[in-house]
Amino acid sequence: MPMPSSVLPNRSTLPVPTAVRMPTPQSGSDGFRQAMRLALSRRPHTIAPVFFYDEHGSRLFETICQQPEYYVTRVEMGVLQEHAQAIADRIGPDAEVIEFGAGSSIKFCTLLQALRAPRRYVPIDVSGAHLQIEAAALRRDHPMLDVRPVVADFMQPFRMPPGRAPSAQRVGLCLGSSLGNFDADEARAFLAMAGRALAGGGLLVGIDLVKDPAVLHAAYNDAAGVTAAFNRNLLARANRELHTDFEPERFYHHACYVPALQRVEMHLVSTTRQTVHLDGEAFTLAEGESLHTECSHKFTLAGFRSLSESVGLQPGPVWLDARGWFALQWLDCPPLTGSDPFPGAHRLSPT
Ligand code: AVJ
Repeated sequence: MPMPSSVLPNRSTLPVPTAVRMPTPQSGSDGFRQAMRLALSRRPHTIAPVFFYDEHGSRLFETICQQPEYYVTRVEMGVLQEHAQAIADRIGPDAEVIEFGAGSSIKFCTLLQALRAPRRYVPIDVSGAHLQIEAAALRRDHPMLDVRPVVADFMQPFRMPPGRAPSAQRVGLCLGSSLGNFDADEARAFLAMAGRALAGGGLLVGIDLVKDPAVLHAAYNDAAGVTAAFNRNLLARANRELHTDFEPERFYHHACYVPALQRVEMHLVSTTRQTVHLDGEAFTLAEGESLHTECSHKFTLAGFRSLSESVGLQPGPVWLDARGWFALQWLDCPPLTGSDPFPGAHRLSPT
């Protein structure tokens, strides 16, 4: 989906790609309808993973995180716990912490205990109900912290809540390998946007590293079938919200690691030839044809560093688990020199 022209950057001093593509459609129901129609009309059938996260999907994702095979969340939590103090020291005092794709606040809470005088916490997520529940719990436990959730797809234009303390240092968190859902262009666009929004501060990115494909395969094919249910929930959500007539049980969950592309791909594969209706229009899926629902990119440390450097961010320390499965990479965001290189074009508007 093209960006509205009002938010297209017009000139640049940072080496960002000239055509910043924002292919992730709006995550609301209108966006979902559009994305689903597009996915069904073109081949291969592809839809963005942001649509997994309705209320059901968010709950299923939390359950995935508790599966023994899904190491991602546990390993990242371990790294955060072990290095909370070092990370908090790097963040420094009086920080305004912006979390891109917040989901559960447990990771931020781990950091919070080590942070000095944090000013404000701005969790951003597409799952509104979830975000409000987490924010309420956080306010209860930390009455001194200003918690200002934003319901948004962070790849789309949105406004920051007003009332930022002028002296607050902005620090971004993009944890849980959320960035892995983006292709290289999208990841660069996100990093460039975050770098501008956090100029003079830093960004901490959780990245899942390349590893034994058997480990990856198990993580996305848990024995309890939770990942399969999470994948199929996309079709159930379409039936609920768009009144399509998908039969989720007539799709296989297929997840596999593609080494050449350094990513796990998730598909919903049609077990039979079948016809699906959306707004009176019929779409046919052949037997064995798939709806590609997610890419989960894995990184090498060097690969991620050069991706970050390509949009002008400066890699700092990296914190790792003992097996080298997951990394927290710190990126310094250089201050904007001279005048704002993107006047009026901030998608993450500083206020
Ligand atoms: C939330 C995108 C990091 O890619 O591992 C988990 C989503 N999909 N199991 C991931 C997911 C299937 C997850 N991310």
